[in-house]
Amino acid sequence: MSATATLHRPPPTAAQLYARVSTIIPAIEWPVFADDIDAILDLKRQRDAVILAHNYQTPEIFHCVADIVGDSLALAREAMTVDAKVIVLAGVHFMAETAKLMNPEKTVLIPDLRAGCSLAASITAADVRLMRERYPDAPVVAYVNTSAEVKAASDICCTSANAKWIVESLGARRVIMLPDEYLAQNTAKRTDVEIIAWAGHCEVHERFTAAEVRTLRAEHPGLVVLAHPECPPEVIAEADYTGSTADMAGYVSQRQPRRVVLLTECSMSDNVAVRNPGVEFIRPCNLCPHMKRITLPKIRRALETMTHEVTIDPAIAEAARRSVVRMLAV
Ligand code: 13P
Ligand code: SF4
Repeated sequence: MSATATLHRPPPTAAQLYARVSTIIPAIEWPVFADDIDAILDLKRQRDAVILAHNYQTPEIFHCVADIVGDSLALAREAMTVDAKVIVLAGVHFMAETAKLMNPEKTVLIPDLRAGCSLAASITAADVRLMRERYPDAPVVAYVNTSAEVKAASDICCTSANAKWIVESLGARRVIMLPDEYLAQNTAKRTDVEIIAWAGHCEVHERFTAAEVRTLRAEHPGLVVLAHPECPPEVIAEADYTGSTADMAGYVSQRQPRRVVLLTECSMSDNVAVRNPGVEFIRPCNLCPHMKRITLPKIRRALETMTHEVTIDPAIAEAARRSVVRMLAV
């Protein structure tokens, strides 16, 4: 799913693009999107801009205007290779900050400044310093779902795709892993390293329950259950497979389960379903209100007005970049 599209190719028109999403967007709804899509394709050329979109973006963004799509790890990695003056981040604020960290000289825009994250909001740099005082021997692993200040106060970043390897790469007996308590607990089950957690939660994934998974299995025989590691451990215990959003998409593409449920944000199933027409998706729909703040009209406006530009204090940026670069090196 961390696929990249060819950049600077003359883009097709919205009318041609409809074929990509016709299984998920009814034809009667397409005119609502078409004008904005044509305008965005045109503005991208005028501004020398690329759009990076997270797997949770809605299909008309994900499949029709994004140049690079993927999970948090892929977006951080791909941000380094972008050959354009402007990056529009169709995702949440910490993702735009990470893109800016990797591209200090480029203009990074986020279409809605209010696109936050309950995990990023759960911890400050002062909290990280307090944790260090309490556990001075433990290095700090910060999930990428954190502010630049928190990344700067940490030793290394991780994502849901690489948490175990990052923790083990440090060679420490114990590590502090923040802010997602469930990611920390789920990672602790897969490693001998002792993990000290923070009590932050994703407001989308914490809503899934083990009882819900059991009910889904009873109602849908043969169901394959894929879960994101931000889900509570008792949910992970009920799942057939756990992985990042890109890992889940990869599982579906490669194994083609007859019937599947993705215990993660709602739009992800739409995006994966478009590429896997033979798979039946069961869809309990937990929406991320922050991801859903990003819409086609706001992306269009971001490119028209060159707002909202993401900036990071250079002193913080240098230390935060170190944590991200260290992760990418692992
Ligand atoms: P990944 O795409 O890295 O799995 O992260 C999921 C998420 O919740 C991002 O906000
Ligand atoms: Fe944050 Fe959860 Fe939304 Fe991801 S899905 S942006 S972790 S609140």
